[in-house]
Amino acid sequence: MRQDKPIICMRHLMMRYQTGKVALSGIHLEIWQGSFVYLTGESGAGKSTLLKMLYGGLRPTSGQLEVQNINVRDASERQIRELRQRTGIIFQDNRLLNPRTVFENVAMPLRVQGWNAQRLLPRVRKVLSFVGLEDRLWSYPETLSGGEQQRVAIARAMLANPPLILADEPTGNLDDDTARHVLDLLMALNKLGTTVIMATHDLHLLTSHPGLVVQLHQGALVAGATA
Ligand SMILES: Nc1ncnc2c1ncn2[C@@H]1O[C@H](COP(=O)(O)OP(=O)(O)O)[C@@H](O)[C@H]1O
Ligand SMILES: [Mg+2]
Repeated sequence: MRQDKPIICMRHLMMRYQTGKVALSGIHLEIWQGSFVYLTGESGAGKSTLLKMLYGGLRPTSGQLEVQNINVRDASERQIRELRQRTGIIFQDNRLLNPRTVFENVAMPLRVQGWNAQRLLPRVRKVLSFVGLEDRLWSYPETLSGGEQQRVAIARAMLANPPLILADEPTGNLDDDTARHVLDLLMALNKLGTTVIMATHDLHLLTSHPGLVVQLHQGALVAGATA
């Protein structure tokens, strides 16, 4: 689903860590609503740094970054919180809480917004059925396979119906078949209109699941595109 405005706009974007390391520089990029973007590049290229900036976890050192109509550089703490609520995030290590059930893990993004269990249950069931794990509602993450845990993380990321999902090497710990299944789910979410940005160096996955490729090399854009 393509729409007529960018959900993300970067201009002269630069990020320097306190150590002095310039992790990103001179980034110009627009990402249009409804795109599926692969963010590629060698280890240390700046992929995780870029994703972190997109949910306001880091602010640009200089340049402009607008995400979901929020200027990340100048945003108030409240605006940054809003941005996070409108963004689903998936990490390589799924970051599920082991002492909590799948239900509690998936419910988290709306729990923190004050939803009670009664209101949460149908919504959690719905996203778990999207990832094919409705029957694991009351299981604990440790009893699931790595691929299932990552599917729970996808369900959690999509719970609040965010327009944007960021996934940082979500298939990095998975075998190829399981990785493809995870990718299928992200693609299906994208078909429903969610913008998906996925950092990966599993470039062979791209042949089975085409998308727009944005490549970083040593903190600079190699092949950017306006989708
Ligand atoms: N918190 C930090 N402080 C200082 N340097 C960092 C920090 N995080 C990452 N870096 C450095 O920034 C560069 C980009 O890192 P990163 O965004 O994690 O790359 P990638 O995800 O592509 O592997 C690397 O040189 C890394 O060592
Ligand atoms: Mg990384």
